[in-house]
Amino acid sequence: MTRIAASRSRMDAVQLPIVQVIGDLIRQTPGTISLGQGVVHYGPPQPALDAVRVALAEQSTHEYQDGSGLPALVDRLAAKLRAENGIDVGRGTSVMVTAGANMAFMHAVFAVTEPGDDIILNVPFYFNHEMAIQMAGCGVVAVETDERYQPRLDALRAAITDRTRAIVTVSPNNPSGAVFGEAALRAVSALCGERGLYHISDEVYEYFTFGTARHVSPAAFSGAAEHTIAMFSLSKAYGFAGWRIGYMTYPDHLHAAMAKSQDTILVCPPVASQVGAIAALDVGRSYSAPYVAELAEVRDIVVSKLNALAPLATVPAADGAFYVLLKVETDLPPMRIAEQLIREHGVAVIPGPAFGMRDACYFRVAYGALQKDTVAEGIGRLVAGLRAIVS
Ligand SMILES: Cc1ncc(COP(=O)(O)O)c(C=O)c1O
Repeated sequence: MTRIAASRSRMDAVQLPIVQVIGDLIRQTPGTISLGQGVVHYGPPQPALDAVRVALAEQSTHEYQDGSGLPALVDRLAAKLRAENGIDVGRGTSVMVTAGANMAFMHAVFAVTEPGDDIILNVPFYFNHEMAIQMAGCGVVAVETDERYQPRLDALRAAITDRTRAIVTVSPNNPSGAVFGEAALRAVSALCGERGLYHISDEVYEYFTFGTARHVSPAAFSGAAEHTIAMFSLSKAYGFAGWRIGYMTYPDHLHAAMAKSQDTILVCPPVASQVGAIAALDVGRSYSAPYVAELAEVRDIVVSKLNALAPLATVPAADGAFYVLLKVETDLPPMRIAEQLIREHGVAVIPGPAFGMRDACYFRVAYGALQKDTVAEGIGRLVAGLRAIVS
């Protein structure tokens, strides 16, 4: 019998799923407060639960349905995209429901690349974007952002080669919390248009902006729909993460490629979850508004407590999502500090290298699962832990 070689696969070059790595460490240290995974503390709206309960009695819920999503959900999304995002679905732009925005990103990469092509990511990037691009046999070109984690157009322009197929933006951003300015997004979109590239725009945190920061959808810019793929999610906005419902818009000419990927990976989005999604969308954006308002207060507490660590650590302003990126002044390896924080101080954060941050020691602090009464304990442990480990 010939033994199968232990490891020789496209996955060898792909980073381990960091949230699971940190999750394993958390399980070994019961009582740890997780500032690791990007989750919210609330669940779906009641009408979504009621709608699913009713749907479970229907035979059609248990059968395969349309690959792009239930027509009723696709119509509901088209109305939302028109009203809230300014994206004119139906006029050269398609919508597809996916099992989460991560799947939409994977489809998009398959649809616009050949193996050996490159995709540009702004650094810090979302780890699953790097992982998806590598799994597709493509290269990640990592481009530094500025000191406020805003895109640098000159650097993006300089990074484009004959192999480049797309530029990715994530706004509001995971992991930095930065909300990219409209002018910067317009410039990225125009650059993509000029150079024949796709603009892949991850907008899963569209409702999570604080103060005067505003989310904008690049697909709505004049002339941009032809080259923009935009992805959205119910995971955060509606407390739907386990239901796996995301969606994307893309130019019609990509439809056959997107459909091939969807049919192969998913066949159709989970039907019961889609029924719940229609009911959630009927409740609408107002569902998350009070939670976002509360998160704004949590963010202020997180930032002020972490700023007290200066000069040991600094956090730039973060106007969106529910993350801050903490820079710690030390030569110690970030993973070692992350392990020590869990084992000795009962608090978990995600080390910077997962997001392409290797020039110094960074940690992503996720506060979406915290409420005003739990934030003091979680951040207090982090502050005490960093002081003990680093100073
Ligand atoms: C930037 C970004 N995109 C996509 C996702 C995944 O969303 P979904 O649950 O819809 O797959 C996340 C989740 O944390 C994210 O932070």
